[in-house]
Amino acid sequence: MALVRACLVALGLASAAGLLLLVRPHRASGAVPPRSQAQAVERGRALFDRFCASCHGSGGLGTSQGPPLLGVGAAAVDFMLSTGRMPLAVATQQPTVQRQTARFSRAEIDALVAYVTSLYPGGPPVPRVHPERGDLVRGNRLFTSNCAPCHSAAAVGDAVGGGAVAPSLRQSTATQIAEAVRVGPGVMPRFGPEALDQHDLDSLVRYLLALRTLPNPGGLGLGFVGPVAEGFVAWIAGLGLIVLAIRWIGTTT
Ligand code: HEC
Ligand code: HEC
Repeated sequence: MALVRACLVALGLASAAGLLLLVRPHRASGAVPPRSQAQAVERGRALFDRFCASCHGSGGLGTSQGPPLLGVGAAAVDFMLSTGRMPLAVATQQPTVQRQTARFSRAEIDALVAYVTSLYPGGPPVPRVHPERGDLVRGNRLFTSNCAPCHSAAAVGDAVGGGAVAPSLRQSTATQIAEAVRVGPGVMPRFGPEALDQHDLDSLVRYLLALRTLPNPGGLGLGFVGPVAEGFVAWIAGLGLIVLAIRWIGTTT
């Protein structure tokens, strides 16, 4: 079992590395941080024309391959780029865009955020979070009632129907969690400040970060995917044993 798992992990890592090499765009010219907002916007425009305009249209007006980005706000752009969801390699019909390693540096993301938000005002800004000010019990309650139905109680993710997947929340940074809450990416609902205020947000983030430090509550880890996967693994292993038994009976009689 451990060997199979190790092989699968190695295979996954190798293909992920290969994919990264294939799709990773070249770093834009200078690593010098832009000194002014105008410079950031200019740099962002160059990156946008190169990596985004084919789908989102020149000036972010949208095409058949991607929605318009007018007024989406800094939080949406920062979230999509920092979680590696954008730029999409190919336009897909998949309802969920996967989290990946971010394709741009921090300075490049900031430049793209500056450019896209310069096109049209509006949309949520990048939220500030202070997990240390949050309340764990409140965070637990808010998570259970608002998020766990889709992301599962252990925040390891789950299918939500229609081919959409609510991903695991174990890799998201504090800022990315807050951004997702305010933006509502894909089929996830948006929670504005009227639904979850700043203290609620701090508490939710604090709870989600704390959840990662809990020890494995027993049984095989199996990536925390719950009883379904445990049953499935038992089923596969059991089936394997039965097949072996049948073959053994077959060859010895
Ligand atoms: C191959 C096509 C493609 C490319 C290239 C691409 N996008 Fe997208 N983008 C999409 C599609 C399709 C969606 C809608 C996905 C969804 O809603 O789940 C999207 C969604 C987004 C959103 C969310 C919009 C919203 O309404 O919340 C942002 C922000 C975004 N893209 C930014 C970018 C940026 C910045 C780049 C360049 C670095 C980029 N995208 C490159 C196809 C693309
Ligand atoms: C209706 C189901 C649903 C609910 C309710 C929901 N989400 Fe989501 N969530 C999703 C889906 C689907 C995505 C993936 C969106 C995409 O990129 O296409 C997502 C993405 C996310 C991400 C990005 C994860 C990453 O690192 O890539 C975070 C963080 C997140 N949700 C947090 C929350 C929190 C916190 C709540 C509760 C306040 C919540 N979600 C409620 C469905 C849901």
